[in-house]
Amino acid sequence: MKHLAIREISLHNFKNYPKREFTFDASHTLIFGRNGIGKTNLLDAIYFLSLTKSAFHSDRQLILQNENFCRVDATFQENETLHKLTAIYAPPERKRFILDDYAFPTLAEYIGRFPVIMIAPNDTDLIREGSEERRRFADTILCQTDKVYLQALSQYNYLLKQRNSLLSQNPFPTSAYKLLEVYNYQLSPLNQKIAQKRQDFANSLAPLLQKNYAEMAQKDANAEISYETNCLQSDFEEIFRQSLEKDIALRRTSVGIHKDDFVFMLNANPIKKFGSQGEQKTFVIALKLAVFEFLKENLQITPILLLDDILDKLDETRTFQLLQKVMQNPFGQVLLTEANPKRLEQIPVLKNWQKIEIFD
Ligand SMILES: Nc1ncnc2c1ncn2[C@@H]1O[C@H](COP(=O)(O)OP(=O)(O)OP(=O)(O)O)[C@@H](O)[C@H]1O
Ligand SMILES: [Mg+2]
Repeated sequence: MKHLAIREISLHNFKNYPKREFTFDASHTLIFGRNGIGKTNLLDAIYFLSLTKSAFHSDRQLILQNENFCRVDATFQENETLHKLTAIYAPPERKRFILDDYAFPTLAEYIGRFPVIMIAPNDTDLIREGSEERRRFADTILCQTDKVYLQALSQYNYLLKQRNSLLSQNPFPTSAYKLLEVYNYQLSPLNQKIAQKRQDFANSLAPLLQKNYAEMAQKDANAEISYETNCLQSDFEEIFRQSLEKDIALRRTSVGIHKDDFVFMLNANPIKKFGSQGEQKTFVIALKLAVFEFLKENLQITPILLLDDILDKLDETRTFQLLQKVMQNPFGQVLLTEANPKRLEQIPVLKNWQKIEIFD
């Protein structure tokens, strides 16, 4: 098992920072400063180093306004060894990730090497928004831990695009039926493979989510995740056959893993409809902490935990439980942002954390 900790980060034209350096010399750090100063942007820089994109914005917004490139350099520690990591984005060139002088040929090869988990205020979108948001959430995690999944998914997306473009013809030419069958033949096993892996993923998260939710809420509660799909059937080509007329009428593919969803339930009710704001917030935090354990187990690396403004909307018990929890195993380095340090004076567990104030 490798333990990961970022020690230094230097930002160049990254979001609101022309040039700035930060040093983290403890395992737990509290970052504070007024609204809009760049606390979230600092966490986003670390997220960018991990997942090669912003947690919130488009690629273009990674770059300071009116500049044409951004660069993030970091020194991180992995057990006893220090590593240098550099990310450069200068469009139209593709993003480059360099670890100890090794430039990764593709982003796909790099992703998973420097794992982080970010918990942020807009995470409840995962509950409230449509299924695409939840599929993207699962895909982002599985692409880090399972290169076979990543390959299957990109192949699926490529073939789906081809199939949809064929279906977009109006009227649909009889000569295209043969090609449609070729796509069905190629897409069918990919549907099964991806659906199976997503289902296994939901099954691995389920007990962790349940445990984390109950711990944070300090009461018995049933927090559940399940995967909703009809892609696990052995003969998916039959499903394509059944939906043929519909697909031609709609001019796109109406069945497959791009339609699937993850369902979140709290005490047997869909949390999307019935959960309070605080319950939804607790749920996504418990879910992200479950993902933390999933990544740790599958990558054999302790990820860095980034907690952006998470204390808002949580009651005292839940705040205390959460902070208490992240100071123990299985967690390693934790970075927490907060705009209102007054609120933090009342939280004794934070007393020994390193404190960084961001000024103009
Ligand atoms: N590409 C960019 N170029 C210049 N400024 C940017 C860019 N992207 C974001 N910003 C600025 O960064 C600021 C927001 O920073 P950030 O979200 O990190 O603030 P924060 O300290 O987390 O604030 P809060 O306490 O409100 O959460 C905004 O003023 C925004 O305009
Ligand atoms: Mg913020």
